[in-house]
Amino acid sequence: TLPYVPYKVKDISLAAWGRKEIELAEAEMPGLMSLREEYKDSQPLKGARIAGCLHMTIQTAVLIETLVSLGADVTWSSCNIFSTQDQAAAAIADAGIPVYAWKGMNEEEFNWCIEQTLFFGEDREPLNMILDDGGDLTNMVLDKYPELAEGINGLSEETTTGVHRLYERMKNGTLPMPAINVNDSVTKSKFDNKYGCRESAVDAIRRATDTMLAGKRVVVCGYGDVGKGTAASFRGAGSIVTVTEIDPICALQAAMDGFEVKRLETVIGKADIVITTTGNKDIVQARHFEALKDKAIVCNIGHFDNEIDMGWLNANHGDTKDEIKPQVDKYTINGKDIIILAEGRLVNLGCATGHPSFVMSNSFTNQTLAQIELWNHPENYKNEVYMLPKHLDEKVAELHLSRLGVELEKLRPEQAEYIGVTVDGPFKPEYYRY
Ligand code: NAI
Repeated sequence: TLPYVPYKVKDISLAAWGRKEIELAEAEMPGLMSLREEYKDSQPLKGARIAGCLHMTIQTAVLIETLVSLGADVTWSSCNIFSTQDQAAAAIADAGIPVYAWKGMNEEEFNWCIEQTLFFGEDREPLNMILDDGGDLTNMVLDKYPELAEGINGLSEETTTGVHRLYERMKNGTLPMPAINVNDSVTKSKFDNKYGCRESAVDAIRRATDTMLAGKRVVVCGYGDVGKGTAASFRGAGSIVTVTEIDPICALQAAMDGFEVKRLETVIGKADIVITTTGNKDIVQARHFEALKDKAIVCNIGHFDNEIDMGWLNANHGDTKDEIKPQVDKYTINGKDIIILAEGRLVNLGCATGHPSFVMSNSFTNQTLAQIELWNHPENYKNEVYMLPKHLDEKVAELHLSRLGVELEKLRPEQAEYIGVTVDGPFKPEYYRY
């Protein structure tokens, strides 16, 4: 095991500022705050040692403190080298929670931070739950510390890319514990991925570049949940948006939502901004870079930085790299300047502060429910990937209605019978797609 390091953050004196922002965020996170109220006496996470690896933002601080208030011991790292808000990390460290995260770390430090979260306190007890975003913590445990897997009740995974990795493991028989796919709760992917990006995509470009977005030509690669939110974000700013897709269903959706749908090579030469949202690799490659016009902006809002071929860019034009400010770099390709944001890593967390609290409350309420479930009832699960039941998905949504002044109709028994549901839900069959 590793020596005990209580925490590592950029600047602990930022804690007071972080605390004030956490308090503001709490008012926007009714799902998490109501779980604190509901479970304050029963303490369903007592005994759980949850290692978390998820963007160390203000919103995540509210998640961490919710897990603690339900009885858990928690350690934390960030799942991206640029996504930590240093004041949030400081406030969490100041509250006595072991957190290892700062904005602008290198890859080696990134892995060091994750590793610190595996063992708890001075007596170095190993984790017994995983809360992950993208699968890097899961991979660290399963690849480097496989002997720890046996003592872990289960894991919950936040994002599309991490969930892909889990289904892959399940298929290959290399998933040694039950997992809950939080991403595919309706109240996660149809809200965070979509409405979250609708707010945070444009926010990132503005904070990074201050460029005028109205009238600009923006290419959004991918029209899944993140792509839908991202395209809407730029449309809302007055940009002329083109979408690229490989899936005919999503391409048709984009077209019928009023977007031009083209191949990247058709439109790249006119693009002012290109943003990738695919969760796939090699979307923007050498030939695309070479076709871009002067001062074009290229960025990615998917989980990993391999959507943009940064390897080619750095190998062939790295000598022209000029840092304008942290996470904003200018490269020159054949005499034309190209602006790269967040080194090709997810731009809304690298150049802005991620999604707003309210939508993250939906995601993190699912996370908390998943942790409670796996901690308390591991015997109900095989080493497979599960989703939360629909009644809990509906509960997460319900917890967020009053903050928005929403009034719900109430089914009458004869109406419920007519559409084949019960008056208290679930209100839709499993196959319904929202
Ligand atoms: P998704 O699977 O719903 O959408 C991805 C879309 O990209 C699909 O429609 C797919 O057909 C399309 N695609 C794949 N290869 C393509 C190609 N070569 N060209 C054009 N389109 C292509 O996934 P989702 O939920 O939208 O997530 C996308 C990525 O964003 C994932 O890596 C996920 O982890 C990440 N994510 C990032 C968030 C953020 O705040 N930055 C929030 C949520 C998810």
